[in-house]
Amino acid sequence: MEKKKIGVLTGGGDAPGLNAVIRAVVVKGEKLGYEIIGIKDGWRGLLNKNVEEISIDKVEDIHREGGTILGTSRTNPYKEEGGEQKAIENMNQLGLHALVAIGGDDTLGVANKLSKKGVKVVGVPKTIDNDLSATDICFGFDTAINRVSEAIDSLHTTAKSHHRVLVVEVMGRHAGWIALEGGIAGGAHVILIPEEPFNIDEVCKVINKRKENGKLYSIIAVAEGALPKGGDLPASCESKQAGKFFTQSEGTDSFGHVKLGGIAKALEKEIENRTGIETRSVILGHLQRGGSPSAFDRYFATRLGLKAIDMVKKEEFGKMAALRKGELVSVPLEEAVGEIRVVNNDLLEEAKVFFG
Ligand code: F6P
Repeated sequence: MEKKKIGVLTGGGDAPGLNAVIRAVVVKGEKLGYEIIGIKDGWRGLLNKNVEEISIDKVEDIHREGGTILGTSRTNPYKEEGGEQKAIENMNQLGLHALVAIGGDDTLGVANKLSKKGVKVVGVPKTIDNDLSATDICFGFDTAINRVSEAIDSLHTTAKSHHRVLVVEVMGRHAGWIALEGGIAGGAHVILIPEEPFNIDEVCKVINKRKENGKLYSIIAVAEGALPKGGDLPASCESKQAGKFFTQSEGTDSFGHVKLGGIAKALEKEIENRTGIETRSVILGHLQRGGSPSAFDRYFATRLGLKAIDMVKKEEFGKMAALRKGELVSVPLEEAVGEIRVVNNDLLEEAKVFFG
């Protein structure tokens, strides 16, 4: 009898642990009698029928590597003329029984829409930003906060030696999980996140207070999506503000998101002007999501991949594998997409005891 085929794709920004999910899907899938078809570069591969069969041999040890062996893209079938229809037709032409879509809000948003049109799809939550709803954590996040805390460790020694303020910009478009957890772990003296617009006077007050106490250096961790209260950073910054956000360049990605970046540079100038303390900025950027996954992410991503295959077997379609209160469960895709999970006020207030 011909084996049932399961397609697997990775979409959106890469995250450490993607290969661990793919490996688990292939190993368990093959052992349960499925054939696994890798779809290249996210939804783009489904639209172009760019696929290849993946066997257990091909995935040996890949869970230790960063990135994704399948490639990724931010292609959105719903932004292309006839994209939805093409995706559905290609699923049929490729003979795919089901699809495992590994991604964040955008990728799983597409999965959710396709599922409503009858596509048999299971989601796996991925994003270093850790802002997907319906799961307590996404793989990739643990590696990212480890990178951030290591970077802040290093910044401490140079900031202290030079008596400088160092502003470190981390990822986090709408949610400040990376800044909060990486910042606390690394010992940042102020943490600025998108959930609470900041007051530049307050930030400088903390820095000046530290100086009065003989601490001639400070580390400020800022999420790329953090915003000054009422847009109160003056024109001294070179970064362009598109709408509300600080952006690195004009234009948007294929999902229509502006390319964030520049808040740290703006703060660098402003803090130096206001406090008179030499200030430098560092943007960690893609260092946060490149490279080898942490042990936690390897194991967690592996379990999510195994769960995804269980869900295909049990025909739990239109759902996402998720971790809730320590248990791996399946939740409706609908709950996972649309609204992102942000840092609640209690957690931010709890962290503030370390500011200064
Ligand atoms: O995946 C989400 C994210 O990490 C955001 O925090 C960030 O704005 C974005 O990816 C940047 O990704 P890229 O440079 O690939 O567009």
